[in-house]
Amino acid sequence: MSEQLIIQGETKQERYEALLPQIKAVVEDEPDLIANMANVAAMLHETFGFWWTGFYRVEGAELVLGPFQGPMACTRIRKGRGVCGTAWLKEETQVVPDVDKFPGHIACSSASRSEIVVPIFQEGKVIAVLDIDSERLNTFDETDRQNLEQIVKMLS
Ligand code: SME
Repeated sequence: MSEQLIIQGETKQERYEALLPQIKAVVEDEPDLIANMANVAAMLHETFGFWWTGFYRVEGAELVLGPFQGPMACTRIRKGRGVCGTAWLKEETQVVPDVDKFPGHIACSSASRSEIVVPIFQEGKVIAVLDIDSERLNTFDETDRQNLEQIVKMLS
C-alpha cells in the first residue's frame, strides 16, 4: 500500500469516491481497531480539512475518547448526552447543521459550529462513534452521512 494519500475531485462526492478505496486498502489487512481508527481520522481530516475528526469508544456506560485529529477534546461522554451520546442511544447518525440549536450539545471547542456523528456497529451493538466537527455552519449533509456510514462499516 502507498503511504501517501492522493485525493482529487471537485465535488465532495468525488473526493469521498477517491478516498473510500484508499481507506479500504489501509484497513483491510490490519485487525487492530485503534490503529485503523487513527488512520481513518487522519485520512478524513487531511482530505476535507475539518476542525476535529475522531472517535469515541463505548466503555461500559460511557464513550471514551479514542484516536482523533484536531484540538484536545472531552474525554468521557455519558450515554444520551451531547450529539455523540445521542447517536449511541438512538443508534443512528446525527447530522447537526447548527450545534447551538442541538439541545445538550457538548462544546469541547467553542469554534465548532456544525457536526456529524456516525455510530459504528459490531454484531448489532454500537461499539464506537465517529465524530466530526466543522467551524462553519451547515457543513454536513446526506452525502457525508452516506459516505461516512460506508467508511465506518470498514472498521467493524
Ligand atoms: N460535541 C460533541 C462532543 C465531542 S467534541 O465535539 C469532540 C457532543 O456534543 O457530543
